[in-house]
Amino acid sequence: QETGPLAGLRALVTAGPTHEPLDPVRYLANRSSGRQGYAIAQALAELGADVTLVSGPVTLAAPVGVHLVRCETAQEMQAHVMQALPCDVAVCTAAVADWRPETEASQKIKKNGDMRPPALSLVPNPDILAQLCALAPGRPGLVIGFAAETETVQAHAQAKRQRKGCDWLVANDVSPQTGIMGGEHNEVMLITPDGMETWPRMSKQDVAEKLAARVGGWWHDVQSA
Ligand code: C5P
Repeated sequence: QETGPLAGLRALVTAGPTHEPLDPVRYLANRSSGRQGYAIAQALAELGADVTLVSGPVTLAAPVGVHLVRCETAQEMQAHVMQALPCDVAVCTAAVADWRPETEASQKIKKNGDMRPPALSLVPNPDILAQLCALAPGRPGLVIGFAAETETVQAHAQAKRQRKGCDWLVANDVSPQTGIMGGEHNEVMLITPDGMETWPRMSKQDVAEKLAARVGGWWHDVQSA
């Protein structure tokens, strides 16, 4: 039996990018490394939580003491997330592709004779975070979203927290000059119903431990309520 401040807590973490296939050899993707999500899953497990990590394609090793479920597309991630319920806390760090090619060609798409490039027709992917927030019954007690922005981070993040319906939102600036996407460090803002905090630049592991400690405070309040 686990001990620690998060003993008895079931956590679900999504991480990494998704890959959306165009044909058997090509896909649409993004630059997410999965590092922040993997660090959060590990930090929650170290505090005693029972953690399921649903991860898109990344090159990271499985965190110790975590149930790792790998997937490729947003639709697969959504299915695995729903299978991992119920949970007390959901932390959605995954950079889920907003759109996917409308159809996946069964064979490699060939160059046509006139060299005119094929048109890409995209359809929206499910919003896993918004869906978790809207679950009734079955909504996790605490849902934490992430917002990767490249401009006016604070305003976009506050609006996103409202729109998605999550409890807490961790926002960061992923402009290329910050080196955050794919890097080892992060500089985030935490938005809760009580207000907004700016955390100093620190390693993704330190962000994970600080966030896990905050979840510990929440869990303590839930259990003593
Ligand atoms: O709207 P945007 O993609 O910026 O929102 C980011 C937050 O929403 C992240 O927590 C991300 O994991 C989550 N998300 C999701 N499913 C999507 C898109 C975003 O869970 N299809």
